[in-house]
Amino acid sequence: MVAESPAATGPRAQIVPAHVAIIMDGNGRWAQRRHLPRLAGHRAGVRNIHRIVRACRDLDIPMLTVYAFSTENWGRPAGEVNGLMAIFADASDRETRNLHEAGVRVRHVGSMEGVPVHLQDAIQRAVDLTRHNTRLTLNFAFNYGGRAEIVHAVRRIVADGIPPEQVDEDLLSHYLYTSELPDPDLVIRTAGEMRLSNFLIWQAAYSEYYSTPTLWPDFGEEDLHAAIQSYASRHRKFGKL
Ligand code: IPE
Ligand code: IPE
Ligand code: MG
Repeated sequence: MVAESPAATGPRAQIVPAHVAIIMDGNGRWAQRRHLPRLAGHRAGVRNIHRIVRACRDLDIPMLTVYAFSTENWGRPAGEVNGLMAIFADASDRETRNLHEAGVRVRHVGSMEGVPVHLQDAIQRAVDLTRHNTRLTLNFAFNYGGRAEIVHAVRRIVADGIPPEQVDEDLLSHYLYTSELPDPDLVIRTAGEMRLSNFLIWQAAYSEYYSTPTLWPDFGEEDLHAAIQSYASRHRKFGKL
C-alpha cells in the first residue's frame, strides 16, 4: 500500500480558492498588548504581508488582495496617518524587490487622491517593475473604499455617456478598480471583528467569509491553512439549490 503523502492530507488536497482577500486588522491591539506605540504594530503588520504572500504562493493560490488602508482611515489622528504613510513608503521599495524575485505581480486597488506624491511614485514603481510576473498577483488595497469605488465608477459611466439600458452588472464591474480581477472566493478578517468595513462590498457579494481572533501581525501560515480548510468545507450555493 502506498503511504499517503503529507500533501494529500494538508490544505493542498482540498479545493484551493483562486482569490483570497484579507482585512488585515489588529495592528493597534498587537502593539497595545506589548506596551508599544501603535506604529510598531503597523510596522509588524506590513512585515507580515510577505510571510502570507509566500504561504499563498506555496499553496498555489494565484491571487491575494490585502486591505492596507481604507478611505475611512484618513479619519485617524494625523500622527498615525503620517506614520502609516512613512511605513508604507519605507517598506515599498525594499519589499518590491523581494516580491519581484518571488515572481509576484503587484497591483494597486484604490485611489491615489490625497496620497503623498513620493508614496504614489513608490507604488507606481512596484506596479511597473512587477508587471510581467505571473506566479501570484498581490492586489494592494490602499486608500480603498467600496462605496467611493462605486461612486467613482458611476461618475465615469455618466461621463462616458453610456445609455441607461446598457448599464448592467458586467458593465458596472468593468468600471470598478478591480475590473480585470476575479471576485474574491474567500475573505479573511483578522482580530475578531465581524464586518467588511467598506472592503470589496460589490465584489464580495458571494464570497465565503472567515473571521479569526488572531491579530494580523501574528497571523501566520498555520492560520492561513485553517482558513483554507474552512473554505474547503463550505458549500457555495450562489442562491441556487
Ligand atoms: C489595521 O490595524 C491596520 C489599519 C487599519 C491601517 P488597526 O490599526 O485597525 O488595529 P486595531 O483595530 O486598532 O487593533
Ligand atoms: C479595516 O480596519 C481597514 C483595514 C484593515 C485597512 P479598521 O480597523 O479601519 O476597521 P473598523 O474601524 O474596525 O471597522
Ligand atoms: Mg482596526
